[in-house]
Amino acid sequence: MSIAILDSPCPQLICKGQPMLPPTTTVIFGATGDLTHRKIIPAFYHLAKNCLLPEDFAIIGFARRPKSDEEFRQDLGEALRKFSHTKPIDEEIWKKLASHIYYFQGELDDPEAYRRLGEKLKNLPEYPKIGENYLFYLATSPEYFGTVAKNLAAAGLASRHDGTRRRLIVEKPFGEDLKSAQELNRTLQAAFAESDIYRIDHYLGKETVQNLMYFRFANAIYEPLWNRRYIDHVQITVAEQVGVESRGGYYDHAGASRDMLQNHLFQLFTLTAMEPPASLDAESIRDEKVKVLRSIATPSLDFLQKNVVRAQYGGGYINGKAIPAYRQEEKVAHNSLTETFVAARFEVDNWRWSGVPFYLRTGKALAVAFTEINIIFNRPPSVLFAASGDDHLRRNSLRIRIQPNEGLGINFNAKVPGNAEAELVEMDFLYRSGFDQYLPEAYERLIVDALIGESTLFTRSDEVEQAWRLVDSVRNAWNRLALRDLPLYACGSMGPVEADLLLEKDGRHWIHPKELTT
Ligand code: BG6
Repeated sequence: MSIAILDSPCPQLICKGQPMLPPTTTVIFGATGDLTHRKIIPAFYHLAKNCLLPEDFAIIGFARRPKSDEEFRQDLGEALRKFSHTKPIDEEIWKKLASHIYYFQGELDDPEAYRRLGEKLKNLPEYPKIGENYLFYLATSPEYFGTVAKNLAAAGLASRHDGTRRRLIVEKPFGEDLKSAQELNRTLQAAFAESDIYRIDHYLGKETVQNLMYFRFANAIYEPLWNRRYIDHVQITVAEQVGVESRGGYYDHAGASRDMLQNHLFQLFTLTAMEPPASLDAESIRDEKVKVLRSIATPSLDFLQKNVVRAQYGGGYINGKAIPAYRQEEKVAHNSLTETFVAARFEVDNWRWSGVPFYLRTGKALAVAFTEINIIFNRPPSVLFAASGDDHLRRNSLRIRIQPNEGLGINFNAKVPGNAEAELVEMDFLYRSGFDQYLPEAYERLIVDALIGESTLFTRSDEVEQAWRLVDSVRNAWNRLALRDLPLYACGSMGPVEADLLLEKDGRHWIHPKELTT
């Protein structure tokens, strides 16, 4: 389903007539937390603004602190004004939306609270029209995911076979290793049917990530080249300028391997490497993504030592803003060995990709914030041009920009006017000039999909487990090597020199974003 922006203001603030989304009560666990304020409520606001919410809907915020509905609405309103990606917000729409938002005080591990929640759900003014159709959103800290699911089931609120919709959205991180992810899968699946579980990886909600499928499979010109005969290697970068900021408590345990590699990077990886699915339904697409991960053998210790780099940022300035060294960040151990940067080389051992390295990297406090997939093609034979003195034809490449400046660039050799030389030039497509349309935020799309029961953009249990298998092997190798320290990189750089060497030893180099090359 696509989210369209209206050409003219919505005639009703929240749509009467033909509602786009089914009547549902959403219960947000962790309702006073950061995610609810920054992402979930702003997403609902934009759905209301784009006239997608039916009149028969409600939101209940479940949290521990005492609060009235009015106080809760006020807190959310303030956060919305601050975090909304469209500004200023439309106060009339917010007022109408807020009148459907309620607060519920309860402890996540108290079964009695869920019994009371069940009563509250049936006493909402919207109940007669919505009925028992619920979307439960787990925005709590991860250790409560299983507890909430169990308690919902015990209170009779989880999946049922009576035609009512009972769905569960689970935020990341989904487990902290393969074992805990398997356990969590078992717990959730005991309460909810797998088809009612929506595991979020917000990268899948990004328009440009979804576009990868269109780009690859809706064009005739790329797919024939998309294999080991023509592609030399692939680079996937998710670079951030921000440090860990206030999230040291969580991050010091997670590190870049759990926070970014296991999920966002592997999603970009599988979408780039997967075979064309049999159809566009969720299971066919997810089957193909899982096959990619299955085709990566669990790397040996020796392979990991040579092909995975981790590092941590030291202090410095980025864009004039002081960033403390990672070890000086709030709630981070002063002798922490947590990686804030990871670069790795993987190989997909199948007919399409055998022998083509995929280099993945991600890091915080880097020079530039950008997410890109670079496809680097084989070098063209230069014998023809060697005679005229130019034997350095450069490789063609595709630059798929996920963010910012969403779009695509194709690099090719062109003759320098007046000279018998070739130079690499870039032909560029910029999403925002190609389509003059509203670009919804990832969470808007994901909430819509969970409400309508479309699970393509959510991760399936086997996919999560396969990704953990690989990340576990990397982390186990680090533990076995029992390193006493790890390389540091300067804030505002592009990571440690070891990451450059990872490619240089293969005769390659990282492709820089345009900002660094121009
Ligand atoms: C989150 C990570 O999942 O993704 C964060 O926990 C990271 O550490 C964020 O900053 C990046 O998301 P985006 O959408 O800003 O690229």
